[in-house]
Amino acid sequence: MDIQKVGVMGCGLMGSGIAEVCARSGYDVVVREINSDLLGKGIEMIEASTETAVRKGKGTEEDRKVTLSHIKGTTNMNDFNKCDLVIEAISEDIDEKRKVFSALDEICPPHAILASNTSSLSIIDLAAVTKRPENVIGLHFFRPAPVMKLLELVRTIATSDEVIETARKFGQSIGKVTATCRDTPGFIVNRLLVPYLLIAIRALETGLASKEDIDQAVTLGLNYPMGPFVLADFIGLDILYNTSMGIYEELRDPVYFPPVLLKKMVVAGHMGRKTGQGFYKYSK
Ligand code: CAA
Repeated sequence: MDIQKVGVMGCGLMGSGIAEVCARSGYDVVVREINSDLLGKGIEMIEASTETAVRKGKGTEEDRKVTLSHIKGTTNMNDFNKCDLVIEAISEDIDEKRKVFSALDEICPPHAILASNTSSLSIIDLAAVTKRPENVIGLHFFRPAPVMKLLELVRTIATSDEVIETARKFGQSIGKVTATCRDTPGFIVNRLLVPYLLIAIRALETGLASKEDIDQAVTLGLNYPMGPFVLADFIGLDILYNTSMGIYEELRDPVYFPPVLLKKMVVAGHMGRKTGQGFYKYSK
C-alpha cells in the first residue's frame, strides 16, 4: 500500500515530533489536538524544532517552510477521513486510547493503518475495538522524535504481513531504522531501559552515590549521552512511572515496580524538565 497522507492524533511532545518527521519527508500531515490552545502550543513546538534543525545545519529556511506547509492542524477528528495512516500519540491511558481507536475505525478509509505510539500498552487491546485488527500496529518513536533514529514496529498476533511491510517501508521513508518486535510489555527498548532507570533511582534511595556522581559515572564510564537521572528527567518522571507500572502490571516482575521516591516525585508534580523540576532543576 502507498502511504501519502498521515494523521497524527495528539500534538504534545511526541505527537509534534512525529508530525514534524513525517512532514519533513514530504508526507501531507493532519495533526489533531482536543482544543485550539493545545494545538497552538503543539504547532509552536514544531516551529521551534524546525528552527533548531536549520540552526544545526539540518536543512535550509526554505526546507523548513516546505515542512511546515505539509502540516495542517485541526481539532476535528473527521479530518483524518482521507489518511492512509494515523499515528495515535495521546497520553498513556488505555481507556482513552480505546475510544480513539474506535472513533478512528469509523472515520478512516477501510485501507488505513491505525498505529499507536504507546511505550508499553498492549496494541492488541487497541486492535480489538476496531473492525480491522489486521491493520493495527505499534509505531514507537523515541524522544526527541526528529533526532532519534529508531522506530519500533510492534506486531500483534492479528497484524498482517502486508501491514508490517508497509510500516517498515514507511519507517525507512522518514529516515528511521526499524526494529520489529512482538506485542509484549515495554517492547524492546523500554523492557531494557526501565529496569536500568529504576535501579539507578533505588541506588540513589539507598545512598550508593549522589545523582551527580551516578550520572557522571554512566556518561563517562559507558559513553551514554545522558546519565540515568538526566535521562529520566528528559523522558518525564510521570511517563517513566506510568511505563514501569504498565509493564509491572502485565509481567508482575518486581524489577519493573516503581520505587517510592519516583512515586513521591510524581505526586509532588516534579515530573522532570517539562515542569522545571525533577531530579534536577531547570530554568524555562
Ligand atoms: N531537528 C533535527 N535534528 C536535530 C534537531 C532538530 N530539532 N535538534 C538536534 N538535531 C541533531 C543535531 O544536528 C545533531 O546531529 P549530528 O549528530 O548529525 O550533528 C544531533 O541531533 C544531536 O543534537 P545536539 O548536538 O544539539 O545535541 P546533543 O549532542 O546534546 O544530543 C540528544 C541531544 C540527542 C537528546 C542526546 O543527549 C541523546 O541522545 N540523549 C538520549 C536520548 C534518549 O535516550 N532518548 C530515548 C528516551 S526513551 C524514549 O523516548 C522511549 C519511551 O517510551 C520513554
